Amino acid sequence: MKNPTVDVEPATLDVQRIRADFPILRLQVRGRQLVYLDNAATTQKPQVVIDALGRYYGELNANVHRGVHYLSGAATDAYEGARSKVRAFVNAAHDREILFTRNTTEGINLVAQSFARPRLQPGDEVLISAMEHHSNIVPWQMVCAERGAKLTVAPIDDRGELMLDEFERLLSERTRLVSVAHMSNALGTVNPVAEIVRLAHARGIPVLVDGSQAAYHMPVDVRGLGVDFYAATGHKLYGPTGIGVLYGREALLQEMPPFLGGGDMIASVTFERSTWNELPYKFEAGTPNIAGAVGLGAALDYITAVGFDGIVEHERALLAYGTAMLESMPGVRLIGTAREKASVLSFVMENIHPHDIGTIVDREGVAIRTGHHCAQPVMDRFGVPATARASLAMYNTREELDALGAALLKVTEVLG
Ligand SMILES: Cc1ncc(COP(=O)(O)O)c(C=O)c1O
Repeated sequence: MKNPTVDVEPATLDVQRIRADFPILRLQVRGRQLVYLDNAATTQKPQVVIDALGRYYGELNANVHRGVHYLSGAATDAYEGARSKVRAFVNAAHDREILFTRNTTEGINLVAQSFARPRLQPGDEVLISAMEHHSNIVPWQMVCAERGAKLTVAPIDDRGELMLDEFERLLSERTRLVSVAHMSNALGTVNPVAEIVRLAHARGIPVLVDGSQAAYHMPVDVRGLGVDFYAATGHKLYGPTGIGVLYGREALLQEMPPFLGGGDMIASVTFERSTWNELPYKFEAGTPNIAGAVGLGAALDYITAVGFDGIVEHERALLAYGTAMLESMPGVRLIGTAREKASVLSFVMENIHPHDIGTIVDREGVAIRTGHHCAQPVMDRFGVPATARASLAMYNTREELDALGAALLKVTEVLG
């Protein structure tokens, strides 16, 4: 294994100070210092997020929107304050364009059921890409099957890049919606979203972007990108599980029927009929994940304070270091070598099953993910049953990638 000579950890990001904010990173596992490289699955949480959850339950807890008492007002302010933070974070025009969901998956299902379902006619098409996560495939399969519509798939090349000319060719007069990942969890590819939106909008086709991976690696500007919907998930944004966000353009959200029925999403109810609440509440039936929203707000404050300039620079340098390291190891093949790529190192090792790689590096305290990464069609495209995936976050270091490299040498010793 060659020693990579890529420059990492520029002064713009004080990684050791950031690491001190994440208590779990001090953990010993299997008698070793934890090396957490499974960030594409979920990121770890800074103390400010953990504290925000404790403070919410210790000092603010009440149900929102319905109470005249002090605590209900305080909880409502905290919840709606979190919505404003999300709005600013993604540069949406209005808070009413920000819907709280459970996760990205729910956001995509909301668009499939409330936007696509009423519009799709037999023979219509929904266009996705070949690098999508299952949560940006299955909801479209379900709604297309129900409506007699067709799911079309734009191919990717051997690097794992979207073939834009093929994508453009597949935009037909029957295409009712495009839904693509901003960034692939299995390959790391970052898609040219602004260009995708330009091509689709030129034909009057709206675009949903699955921002689950991108939102914690790069700044997201929904107005700058011109997207119609953007789904993201709190637990990857250094926030709690069980909270997600869906941005939707107001004009579209206004036209859409509710996704779920129940309390809070109505203006009036009789046994004969109900009328719907205004945005965003029309899409937030039942008691929401108030604590989750507050925790997410704290996480967004944290990311903003660190700053994407430093995060992007640091993760780019780490990715280059990790790429050089893996490329220098005999028998290792990277899956996903897009020119525009972020923070994911997906790889296979000759004659060694990824599951065995994961198990052996875990004994060294190194947490990576192995499997199909909820992207089985991507595995099929590259002719592998699974990959091993190391994925990076703002707190990772070159030393941690060295620990991965050393653990992979053990894998070769034991199984190679
Ligand atoms: C690209 C992508 N889309 C969607 C999802 C689904 O996110 P969630 O499970 O939080 O709904 C993930 C999660 O890994 C993902 O990586």
